[in-house]
Amino acid sequence: MRYTLHVNGRPHEVEAAPEAPLLSVLRDELGLTGAHYGCGQGVCGACTVLVGGKAVPSCTMRVAEAAGREIVTIEGLPPAEGRLHPVQAAFVREDAMQCGYCTPGMIVASVALLSHSPHPDEEEIRDALVPHLCRCGTYGRAIRAVQAAAREMATREEGAA
Ligand code: FES
Ligand code: FES
Repeated sequence: MRYTLHVNGRPHEVEAAPEAPLLSVLRDELGLTGAHYGCGQGVCGACTVLVGGKAVPSCTMRVAEAAGREIVTIEGLPPAEGRLHPVQAAFVREDAMQCGYCTPGMIVASVALLSHSPHPDEEEIRDALVPHLCRCGTYGRAIRAVQAAAREMATREEGAA
């Protein structure tokens, strides 16, 4: 079947079976390889993308469910493709990655968290990162990165006000 996927602000016409995982279409048809395949069962978080502003595992979302909704991948986080979102910049500054396999999913989930809770406490951040398995054990640094990003984004907003 033919579907229109709205990914990172652009419409894409794709040909796929309705039950095809969104992750496969993003990676294999659209060349967006930032969302990673880990478990394929919705339990590791490596494939997380935003759909309608919510962090979801793209390995278990079928392409038919995602069609017509706003999808954002790690490649399309604002401010623009090729420039770092404050959460991405904070992960780099805090060295919150080792092999990096889990990192795009953690960053996307953190962006979703900060969009609805701009000043999360540590428990909220931990809760947001629970679905994300990191075999390299970067959790502590990831939490610090999200805290730093929240501070940075709050400072920017104050500056813009
Ligand atoms: S690959 Fe999707 S949650 Fe693990
Ligand atoms: S940085 Fe290696 S799995 Fe998280």
